[in-house]
Amino acid sequence: MRKKIVVGNWKMNKSFDEGLKLIDEIVKELASQPADNVLKIIAPSFLHLAAASQKLKSLKGFETAAQNCHHIANGAYTGEIAAAMIASTGADYVIIGHSERRLYFGENNALLAQKVNIALANNLTPIFCLGENLEERNAKQHLEAVKQQLKEGLYHLTAADFSRLIIAYEPVWAIGTGVTASIHQAQGMHNYIRSEINKKYGKDISSIIPILYGGSCNAQNAKELFACIDVDGGLIGGASLKAVDFAAIINSFSE
Ligand code: 13P
Repeated sequence: MRKKIVVGNWKMNKSFDEGLKLIDEIVKELASQPADNVLKIIAPSFLHLAAASQKLKSLKGFETAAQNCHHIANGAYTGEIAAAMIASTGADYVIIGHSERRLYFGENNALLAQKVNIALANNLTPIFCLGENLEERNAKQHLEAVKQQLKEGLYHLTAADFSRLIIAYEPVWAIGTGVTASIHQAQGMHNYIRSEINKKYGKDISSIIPILYGGSCNAQNAKELFACIDVDGGLIGGASLKAVDFAAIINSFSE
């Protein structure tokens, strides 16, 4: 039985006070419907991370994640944040390879492989994002595109390290667009990713790796997405900024 997981990726949103208020609202919203079977991970900005981790550490079922980390241990890299610094806030997770990092900050698979390594070395669980863009989907190259991201970003890992990952499939064309992957598209890709992991690492590992869906997932469509056999939860952008919506998504798993 794989973990059910919902991650809220706040991206570059919320002032310090607004962020802490949102955390309080999410906790309050879930008090009456706690979804104890769901791991809830909040990925605020670096600005909020330490305070958010402090606030949530005593609450069962809540964790925090950074949205990125640098690939080098420490040093003269002005404006960057190291994995060890993230771990020191109490956060246990880090998003790596989000398509916005790939697209706007030129992060390629080789760099992301280094980020995965340094995250694992600091006992952070990478939430590794992959997904095809619209051109690749239209050209029916989406399976190949995702396979390459898997291979170049993750296949250097030992089986033991690979088993520590969370994977998030986020089709780039669905992120922030209001266009969600259909159930068929989401389940098809999740099943493909799991079968590729099976080929490389075997069934014991492929059957336990959580694979989350991200891309315009909201309180209306989460239920049918999460009902797909290979979809283990969601990586939520816009809808994670509203406590009511985020709580509804968390409560969208059927037992
Ligand atoms: P949206 O939910 O806003 O489409 O964003 C998805 C995402 O990029 C989460 O990481």
